[in-house]
Parts: sequence; C-alpha cells; structure tokens
Amino acid sequence: MCGIVGYVGHREASGFLLEGLRRLEYRGYDSAGVAIADQAGHVSICKTTGRIERLASALAGSPLHGSIGIGHTRWATHGAATEGNAHPHVGGEHVVTICHNGVIENYQQLKSRLESEGYVFQSATDTEVIAHLVTECLEKECVDEEGKDSQEPYASLVTAVKAALSQLRGTYGLVLMFRDYPGVILAARLGSPLVLGIGDDEHFIASDASPLAGYADKIVYLSDHQIAVVTADSVQVTHRDHGDVRHSVESLQVKTPAVDLGGYSHYMLKEIYEQPESLKNAMRGRLTEDDATAMFGGLNLTPQQLGGVKRIILTACGTSWHAALLGEYLIEEFARIPVEVEYASELRYRNPPVDPGTLVFAISQSGETADTLGAIREMKRKGHRTLAICNVVGSSIAQEADGGVYLHAGPEIGVASTKAYTSQCMVLALLALYFGRMRHLSVDAGMRIINAFHALPSKVRAALQTEEECKRIAAKYCHANNFLYLGRQYNFPTALEGALKLKEISYIHAEGYPAAEMKHGPIALVDESTPSVFIVPQGFVYDKVMSNIEEVKARGGPVIAVVEHGDTRVAELADDVISVPSVEEFVQPIVSTIPLQLLSYHIALMRGCDVDKPRNLAKSVTVE
Ligand code: M6R
Repeated sequence: MCGIVGYVGHREASGFLLEGLRRLEYRGYDSAGVAIADQAGHVSICKTTGRIERLASALAGSPLHGSIGIGHTRWATHGAATEGNAHPHVGGEHVVTICHNGVIENYQQLKSRLESEGYVFQSATDTEVIAHLVTECLEKECVDEEGKDSQEPYASLVTAVKAALSQLRGTYGLVLMFRDYPGVILAARLGSPLVLGIGDDEHFIASDASPLAGYADKIVYLSDHQIAVVTADSVQVTHRDHGDVRHSVESLQVKTPAVDLGGYSHYMLKEIYEQPESLKNAMRGRLTEDDATAMFGGLNLTPQQLGGVKRIILTACGTSWHAALLGEYLIEEFARIPVEVEYASELRYRNPPVDPGTLVFAISQSGETADTLGAIREMKRKGHRTLAICNVVGSSIAQEADGGVYLHAGPEIGVASTKAYTSQCMVLALLALYFGRMRHLSVDAGMRIINAFHALPSKVRAALQTEEECKRIAAKYCHANNFLYLGRQYNFPTALEGALKLKEISYIHAEGYPAAEMKHGPIALVDESTPSVFIVPQGFVYDKVMSNIEEVKARGGPVIAVVEHGDTRVAELADDVISVPSVEEFVQPIVSTIPLQLLSYHIALMRGCDVDKPRNLAKSVTVE
C-alpha cells in the first residue's frame, strides 16, 4: 500500500527517493511521484501512473536537481489511479507540498469548506485537503502565542501543522515541504507508520525501515501524534499535546535487501523455494530436547502468567488469518486451551466478552496491517495482554504488542504470501507445543512433536519436487473460471489458503471449504468445468474425504488431489494426483501447501498475470 520517502542532506535527493520507492514497491501501488526543491527553494514535481521505472525514465528525461525532496507510491483509495491523483499534492500557490499515507474520513466536509473559501482542488484525493488546510493555517497565522514568540526557527510551521492536523479525522503518515522554508521537512504520524534514518549531515524519512538500509545505521520510530522537524543536521520531535519529546535512536536492524531474484523468474517462486530454510529459521534455537518443549525469548510473560492463560484469541487478516486457524486446531489439540480466531477487522469494532486470563496474539507478516494493529490496540485498551507474531522486525504491530515471536523468514517481496504463511504455521505449532508441555502433554508426546518438526524442512524440500507435476496440471486447468479447494480438520485452513493463493494471483474465482460442507451449498457449483482440489493426507478423516471426492466425481467434476506418497486409492478416483511426503498429521498442512502454491504460481503465469504484483493488491494493507 502507499509508501513514503523523504530526504534532506547534501546529495542529490532523487537518488535516495527513487531507490527508496523501489524498495517500497512490494507494498503495492498504482502510481508514484516525487517533489524536489532546488537551491533557490523552488519545488518541482514529477508523477507517473504505473511502475516506478516509468517515474525513473521521466526523471532521466527531465532530471530534478536538489538536495531536499519527498516521494510517494500511491495505492488508490479516494480517486482513480491517475497522474493527477498521484502524490505529491500542493496547497495554495505551492506554499506546501505533501505526501500522505492513510485515509482522511472527514475530507468531504473539509473540502466543501475550503472550496467555499476559494481553495481550488486539482485532484479527487482526500490528501489534498491536508495541503490546503496547512496552507490556510500558515496564511491565517493559526499560530499560538508560544509559536510566535518562540526562538525555534520552525515553531510557527509546527504550530500551523498542528492546527491543521487537529481538524482531521482519520489516519496519516505525512511528509511536508514548504516554499518559504526550503531546508526543512516536517513528518507527522497518526496510525500510519513513519521512521527517520539518521545519517551524517543528512536525514532520511520512510514509511518503513526497508528504504533506509545502506543509507543510515540509526533509526527513530515516530509514534502517533508526534511531529518531527527534520533538517540536514538536526531532528527535533514534538508531541501534538505535550511539546518537545526526547526521541530514542535505535540501531537499524534491517539489512540491505537482497533484491536480486537469485536466478528465479519471480520473487514468489524464489520465496516458495526458500521454505525449507525459512522453516529452519522459525525453529532455530526454539526447541529444547532436554525439556521436550519449545522456548521463546520475547514473550515477556512470567511462567505464572503463562500458566494462568485460560483462553487465547488469535487475530489476523488474509493469509495470516488462515495460519491462525491452523493455530487454533493445534493449540486446542496440544494444550487444551480454548482458542478463538478473529478477523482483525471485525474484532476491532466488536465488543466480545473477554475474561481476564485471555491472551491475544496478532499475526501479521508485515506487522503494519491497519486492521490487525487496530484490533490489538483495542484489546490492549481493555487491559488484555497482546503478543505479536510478525515477520518484519520493528514493525508497528511488533512494537505495540507486549511481546512476541518473530518469524525470521527474511523479506517477503511477492504480494502473495508463501514462506511467511508456512513460518506462521510453524511458530503457532511451536507455541502449541510450548503451551501443551506447560499443561498435560507428556515428555514422550513432546519428543514426538519435536522430531516431526526437525524432519519438516527436508520433507518440504521433497515437496518442492512436485513442481513439474504442478506445471502439467496447471496447463490442463488454467482456463477454468472457478475452482473449489476442499480439505478437512488440519487441512481446512490449507484449502482456504490454496483458494486465496489462486484467486489473488490468477484472478480465477476460487473458494475453500471444509470438504464435508460442500454438500451444504458449494456442490451446486460442481460441473465438468469446475475443478475441485482435495487435500487428502492419511489420517482419521481420510475415508470421509474419499466420500467427498466420490460426491464430486458423481457430478462430473474434475478432481485434483494432494495425497501422501504411497497412496494408491485416491488415484483410482481423482483425475490428477500430486504426491507429497508423509509427515505427522499436525505438520501435514505445511507440506501440502507447497504444491498448492506452485499450482497457483503456474496457473497465473500461464494466464499472463503479474505474479509478484497482482492487480489491486498491496503487500501491506495500511488502511482499513
Ligand atoms: O502483513 P499481514 O500478514 O498482516 O497481511 C495480511 C493480509 O493482507 C495478507 O496475508 C494477504 O492476504 C496476502 N496478500 C496473502 O497472500
């Protein structure tokens, strides 16, 4: 989703701005732009729709010189994806130039008022009201007495910006440049992340840490309601209500991203193949044979608090929600703790009765998903302990939570989540073992689980060998318009995830169901042109799923089945079979997911879709 960068220092700003925007590409966007001020303070803007490379070519044709600038990737919310709606936007006679992430809910009322006062809007965005509001506050000198009297060179700017922000309802990560103050950028945040990178006589601003790697080794995370005044040689942070605050400077953990594809044609494929390694990283240092359990460094809870947990809520969105669903099955099975899985977008506005002794886990690859962040804030407000399971270190959700567990999956660039999903499942399985061993699970049972975990990376590596088979099956079915994905018990989440993967990158309508639910409605969709993908590992529901396959075959539906090595029964019924290694039932979903990822990938490729950057989607959904 939208990304922000900013630079003030001694080099040409365009270099960092373009590189930073490239590193934010993974968030998903439909247009991009930069604004750069020259030595005389004159601000020039360049904007394009489409990919960053179009912006780069436009800038190569007409370079913008200057050592202060801001840039943006826009994912349309208010107003179509056009050049006119792309950021930066200006207020008044170029009095202020801004880039904005987030949504201004009351923009319509503000726009009407500003228009009636003579402000002319150039775009259909909610953002432009901020630019005109700040201009209005600067022109009307909405500065309090303190602002007027202050010796601080930018005090009047800060008070004007505060006055403008106080009129907004919604969320913002905001950077602002000023016509009459050429050496300064203001950065403000409410509900949409912003970080500052500290260099030598230069400063960087970004909506997450990834653009900073290689440019700065120190980082400042802005908090909500903070406004930073950033020049080449100083950073000053002030709080909307409490005046200046001491900002803490941390060392930057993010390494320069490995942007190369490593010989793969897409990030998604690369990330699918990284799973044996990412699973090892999720487990590394977290299993102890001595106690036959898992251990975690960052939960920040005493053994008493953990022993007293009576209920767990897992909250997430999209693929992370599917991982949560598997987590529910595993934690209830191993630890006998009641678990509920909640869509974060629902939980944040619901008011469910939640007893003391409830632990809330937020699961998010990016750690920036607005709904998930909103949900844990709501739970914290009500006094519950919140823990995060995130991939991105230092992300907003990781910081807001009381503690948590990182996935250590490495950067996931493809919009369709693959390795982060299996790592989330892995971490939830580790937590299930951990809580289980604190309760009734025996040493023997604990060791059996640990052995299954240790064996998993090599089984996943073997499952990757199904790629050729997946490619063959993809060619056979890539023209279908509808797919069903069906699995039971631990593989119900696998079915949901398989369907989501297919629809998000190939734009084919796909639905995932518990296999037995099919009879209650979805079976009406079955015909010769609607393939059903069954996940049928060995286990206590195997025969039940076989009956569900019979039901589809009886109605002429093609069946693709994911089975375990050695299975011969399914092949007698199914049209196509993908065989994966046998593992313990509770880790089978991780292995079975691999061919579903590969199948989606090849179908999307054969349909000519942009696998890594599917239409309309953003890697990190920072608006609600
Ligand atoms: O970063 P998060 O895990 O919080 O993201 C949640 C969803 O937006 C994400 O999983 C989405 O469904 C992906 N596109 C799935 O591939």
